[in-house]
Amino acid sequence: MEEDDIPSVLEIENVSFQNPWQASTFSGEIVNRGISYPYVIMHRIFERIIGYIIYWKIQEEVQISNFAIHPDFRGKGIGEAVMRRVIKAIQRDGGVYVFLEVRPSNLAARSLYKKLEFEILGARKGYYHTPVEDALIMGRPL
Ligand SMILES: CC(C)(COP(=O)(O)OP(=O)(O)OC[C@H]1O[C@@H](n2cnc3c(N)ncnc32)[C@H](O)[C@@H]1OP(=O)(O)O)[C@@H](O)C(=O)NCCC(=O)NCCS
Repeated sequence: MEEDDIPSVLEIENVSFQNPWQASTFSGEIVNRGISYPYVIMHRIFERIIGYIIYWKIQEEVQISNFAIHPDFRGKGIGEAVMRRVIKAIQRDGGVYVFLEVRPSNLAARSLYKKLEFEILGARKGYYHTPVEDALIMGRPL
């Protein structure tokens, strides 16, 4: 992800989350190289951004901090392919454990993570707002 990508990323972010990140948050991720790994997913034929994934790697632990696919491109196996590729990249880079947080009501994402062998490790009470909801912490060894 680069600064010029942010308008396209925000379009997806705003239709994907009830509390979307602001442009400045994405900019912060871009400059936080070495800890933050922000990637866009490009459609080869349409040459447009159809999703993004951001993860933080701190020593051997990885936290997926943001991940979305444009609604027009969901349900086609793209999210799963991206996650599998990211997991491989993290493994190659020495990561040993990956975590993420997800709304319990986000059944699509939970189903994807379960398919990828993530397990529920716990919950953070009232982590999300508008609407308030706990976060499920999911993770898997690599
Ligand atoms: C979660 C998300 C990234 C999945 O991306 P996707 O490209 O649509 O997912 P895929 O087509 O690769 O689906 C892979 C698996 O995810 C699950 N899944 C995807 N969409 C689903 C849906 N609508 N209902 C239930 N399960 C679903 C299924 O397990 C599916 O496997 P299957 O096809 O064998 O049933 C996408 O729905 C999204 O961007 N959602 C909004 C943002 C978001 O919630 N991000 C995650 C925050 S933690």
